[in-house]
Amino acid sequence: MKLNNELIEKSVPLLVVLTLLVISVGGLVEIVPLFFQKSTTTPVAGLKPYDPVRLVGRDVYVREGCYNCHSQMIRPFRAETERYGHYSVAGEFVYDHPFQWGSKRTGPDLARVGGRYSDNWHRTHLLNPRDVVPESNMPAFPWLDRPVQTSDIEAKMKALRAVGVPYADEEIAGARKQLEGKSELDALIAYLQGMGTQIKSTQ
Ligand code: HEC
Repeated sequence: MKLNNELIEKSVPLLVVLTLLVISVGGLVEIVPLFFQKSTTTPVAGLKPYDPVRLVGRDVYVREGCYNCHSQMIRPFRAETERYGHYSVAGEFVYDHPFQWGSKRTGPDLARVGGRYSDNWHRTHLLNPRDVVPESNMPAFPWLDRPVQTSDIEAKMKALRAVGVPYADEEIAGARKQLEGKSELDALIAYLQGMGTQIKSTQ
């Protein structure tokens, strides 16, 4: 029996298997090299692992579901770069586990929001967005004005170290001290202010 077009088109199982094979090879050829390319695995110049305060802020971001309305990836199109700044590159996210790229944009992309507003602006905005942006439909997060939880910071940093974030023993040992007196709001704002600042906007 010859494996010709007619046979493949008449046998659904064979067609399915061969289609899957072709798609997998095509996919793997595109995806696998990315795991080994320097441009996707090497941090961009100046990128540091999140310090304990920003790390806790990032967890607050994830817990509160900010990613449901905000992406963190600027696409390489003019409409995006004119609005948000330099497009995002993979090397900016090597310490993000998991990354927060997303595609849902009820609100603006936040990949380069760091430094765009003052800490005070963020504080007011997070406690009640309508105090600074009257037409905003972003929810208020008033409960964030409470102390951060410190008991699990060492475990968090160790877990991240296990997946490749280069935290030194001294950094982990000193983490709790850095969180002293910080509120969740402080931590979240520190996280936001560091976002995308390694690559300066081209505007
Ligand atoms: C229901 C959707 C929604 C959620 C959830 C949400 N936002 Fe927003 N956000 C918006 C919208 C809409 C805007 C634009 C209006 C404004 O500035 O308030 C915005 C604006 C912002 C801005 C200003 C961005 C800029 O470039 O002007 C920041 C910063 C921000 N949000 C942070 C957060 C954080 C942090 C969280 C989670 C604690 C969050 N948002 C949750 C909808 C949302």
